[in-house]
Amino acid sequence: MPFKIVRNDITKIQCDAIVNAANSSLLGGGGVDGAIHRAAGKELLLECMKLHGCKTGQAKITGGYNLPCKYVIHTVGPVWRGGSHGEEELLQSCYKNSLALAKENHCESVAFPLISSGVYGYPKQQAFNVAVETIKQFLEENEMDITLVIFDKASFDLSKEYSDTIREYINQNYVDEHTDHSTRFFGGLSRKASAPKMAVCKERAVCDDIGDFIKNQIDESFTEMLLRKIDEKGMTDVQCYKKANIDRKLFSKIRSDRLYKPKKETAIAFAIALELSLDETKDMLMKAGFALSHSSKFDIIIEYFVMKEIYDIYRINETLFEFDQKLLGA
Ligand code: APR
Repeated sequence: MPFKIVRNDITKIQCDAIVNAANSSLLGGGGVDGAIHRAAGKELLLECMKLHGCKTGQAKITGGYNLPCKYVIHTVGPVWRGGSHGEEELLQSCYKNSLALAKENHCESVAFPLISSGVYGYPKQQAFNVAVETIKQFLEENEMDITLVIFDKASFDLSKEYSDTIREYINQNYVDEHTDHSTRFFGGLSRKASAPKMAVCKERAVCDDIGDFIKNQIDESFTEMLLRKIDEKGMTDVQCYKKANIDRKLFSKIRSDRLYKPKKETAIAFAIALELSLDETKDMLMKAGFALSHSSKFDIIIEYFVMKEIYDIYRINETLFEFDQKLLGA
């Protein structure tokens, strides 16, 4: 998955390079800087001493030593002084220069902390938005697996832009799976059906739906619908898989296999990238062997965004992360 958000300690992340939110001396400090130096060992400090510091917005690279990564990219974020002292541009430069260094050193995977959002006081939601937008721009032109590592989610106060309305939408629609007998794999059964009748009805419904399902499947597979929709939308393959947060290798695998069976979050990621309606999304999911269910918060959140026609996968993943759900993409 080209871009993901995880809750973890960055010193535990196995990847080619982790980014350190350092200070201009590069001689260590508190927060993530302190954690990285402690985990890497004293050789990291010895190498940093030879770098003679780093300017705000710039980045420098060292070895990873005892960390589970090859490199540490040290960048110095801006101290938040109200937002009118070029903080946003400097923070963008931290991500851009760190990614440029990672690319120069042939890194295929990089992990970032939320730079400047701790001691340096950058409001977390704004720091998050700068990180996501800068990473998104980089991924439009480059192939790399980039992880944004959130250390203390409790204090990670995401914008209320969606979370309040989505929490309300979940409360209205979420049906605990022990009481919700409706949308099983093969389409909806009436919730009103009593248990014994439902057993018979379910069998018949499942048989009928299995017939439709197989017919549907024979008519057009998931891959065929995906490629047809890309053409209909006038998109290129690259535009589609990047917008879906899917890596190139996986897309090539899907494209070359008429009967490929994607994971649910992969199928939905493509539906979002293609900006499908709710019915078309359900149809595409059906071809991959899935259905949306009101006993799944993940599905309800997806349904919310599709119905609102909000197709920004980064924004959707931010909300899925906030609700501790799987992210879209692969
Ligand atoms: N893994 C991932 N993220 C972490 C970790 C960790 N082990 N420890 C802290 N963080 C998070 C914080 O929760 C915060 O969201 O990293 C983000 C950045 O916080 P800081 O580490 O305080 O970095 P910053 O705000 O950029 O301030 C840099 O702090 O530690 C000193 O030497 C550093 O002077 C520099 C200043």
